Order: sequence, then C-alpha cells, then structure tokens
Amino acid sequence: MKLKKIGIINSGGDCPGLNTVIDTIVTSLEADYKVLGFYKGFEGLLAKEYLELNSDFTNFFRFQGGTFLKTVNKGNFASKVGSGQIRQIPEEILSKTAKNYHDLGLEGLIVLGGDGTMEIVYQLQRYNLNIIGVPKSMDNDLPGTDFTFGFHTAVEIATEALDRLETVGQSHDRIMILEVMGRWAGWVSLFSGLAGGANIILIPEIDFSWNSITNFLEKRLSLGKKNTLIIAAEGSKLSGGEISSKSLGSKASESSLGGVGDQISQYLNGITHFEARSTNLGHIIRGGSPGSFDRLLSMPLGVHASKLMRARKFGNMVTYEQGKFSQLPIEECVGKLKLVEKTNFHVETGRALGVCFGD
Ligand code: F6P
Repeated sequence: MKLKKIGIINSGGDCPGLNTVIDTIVTSLEADYKVLGFYKGFEGLLAKEYLELNSDFTNFFRFQGGTFLKTVNKGNFASKVGSGQIRQIPEEILSKTAKNYHDLGLEGLIVLGGDGTMEIVYQLQRYNLNIIGVPKSMDNDLPGTDFTFGFHTAVEIATEALDRLETVGQSHDRIMILEVMGRWAGWVSLFSGLAGGANIILIPEIDFSWNSITNFLEKRLSLGKKNTLIIAAEGSKLSGGEISSKSLGSKASESSLGGVGDQISQYLNGITHFEARSTNLGHIIRGGSPGSFDRLLSMPLGVHASKLMRARKFGNMVTYEQGKFSQLPIEECVGKLKLVEKTNFHVETGRALGVCFGD
C-alpha cells in the first residue's frame, strides 16, 4: 500500500520540547503516513531539503533540547519585523513554497512554532496548503492556549537561578537582579519571579518607576532587609522610557531585546547605600532538555495534532486550555499576543505577598 505523505516543520527560535513533539507525531502517524522532516523551518520546504523520519531515529532525540531539524527565526520567511509588526512575505517565496508542497505530493503539514510561525502559516493558507499548527514558545505569548511548550522549562531554569542569586545577595547584602527573556510578554518573569521569591518583579505589561523601586528598597532597609531579589523581563521598561535593546546589527532577529537588568543595576549603584549586581540568563532558559511539565505537554500536543491530521481538520492550531486539548482556527491565533493582564491571578498573588511590580 502506498503511504500518504506529510511534512513536519519547526520554525522560529528553538526551545525545549521540539524534539518531543516531532517524535510523538512520527510515532503516532508512521504506520499510515510517510513523514518528511524539513530542515531549518520553511526554508527546507523552499529548498526541498528534508529527511524521511521514522521513530527508531526520532526516539533517540525525543527528550533532547533544541531541534535535530535545525531552525531559523529570520531569512526568507521573516513574518514579523521591528517591534513585532507583521511583514507580508514576498509572493514569489510563498508561491514557490506552495508549489514544492504540491510537487512533493504532501497531504498536509504539521508546523511547530510561535506567533511569527503562525503568521507564516496564515499567509501560506491562501495557496491551498493543509496545515495544522502546534504552539511553541518559551515566551508563552500565543493566544488561544494556556501554555506553549518551552515555557515551563524556562520558568524552572529562571527559578533555580533566583534561588542561587538569593544566597549571594544574602551573603553580600546586595540587590541581585536577574534579567530574563520573554519578548513583549512578562510570563517568564512573573512565574519564575513568584516561584523564586523575587521581591520585585518587572514585566513589560506594567511600566516601572525609579521612585517605586527605591521607596520599596528603602522600606526594606528600614526593616533590616539588606538584600533584595529583582527579576526583570527583557521587555520591561521605565514609565515614559524606551525598551532596552541589544545592537546586533544585521544579525538581529525580530526582537533583540536586553539590557534592562544592567540599566537598573547602574541606577541603583549610583545611590551610595545600595550595591547591585545584574545577571542576564539570556538563551540559557531556551537550551537543554525539556522539564517534566513540558514533556507532559509536548506529547499530548503531538498526539492531538496527529489526530487532527487523520481527521483532516486543517487550518487549526492545537490548544491546551483549562486542562483540555482542543484546536482553534489559525486566524484566531495570529495578529495578537497573549499578554499578562494587570488583574492576572499571579500578579494579584504577588501583590498580596508584598511583591513590588515597580508601579
Ligand atoms: O521568542 C523567543 C525568544 O527567546 C525571546 O524571548 C527573545 O527575545 C528572542 O527569542 C531572542 O531571539 P534570538 O535567539 O534571535 O536572539
């Protein structure tokens, strides 16, 4: 019997869980489908560069970090530019990609990615491609799903970093600042800040002021608390100020954010009785193996995507909401980000516990 042919693509920044989802899909579908894994995101489909996958091979990688298919978050398919503005991918790129899809005889594609990737999927759907999306992002900013895979592992790593910085701060009576990725969303900072006992949690959704931070620190000092733990999302900023960004020149991807931790440290070190140090976790929270929560999320996401493929329910992104796996039309998952609301349960929990959010 001739097997139907489908493709898997992972696109955008890597994060723990990609290999887990890929292995789950291959294991679930290989009896009935020939599964092609395209290299380096959609670039692999554009260049017809792929690998035929089987579970003997993918099982080996399933709990390894990164992605054995490799990935890119810029290039021909950059769908977001600057501070997240949508870019129309050139017509010739989209039509060549669609032609390759049809020439290869693909019945469908399962695409793992974040908001930029779902935007590519959205733009490609006009060319009659059958696509199912799987929500990936350490930023956890995709709408329609409570959690994206990659997020909880990032939270675990940042929480451990805070635990470690706490003991340094205690020993030296210092203010220890941890900067974490997350782009325009504060999920990683909020979750790990709360779990790691940060006294000040800064997120992009709540602008901070020097007054708020220094008043809080002075009050702690007056109570004899000489060390303070601060976590700052890379996208957090001073009220009326600019988001800090790194200069990577032509190597920059959509959002080369970073520097707010150093900015805060410099400001506080300028005040005689404070001593601050800043650490930027950078890509460390995106590297390595998925934690157990992300494994337990990635596997059912892959199973659900496989079910949708068998049922030919294309044009959907798999979702995980309130403990249930389901799906939403791709168009409902693009063009907006899921940000932390000021009334968020964890923000309120932090405030009730005396955490300062910088406002
Ligand atoms: O979107 C995931 C993310 O890790 C963001 O949190 C971060 O701003 C960005 O990617 C970094 O991108 P790059 O790996 O291109 O530096």
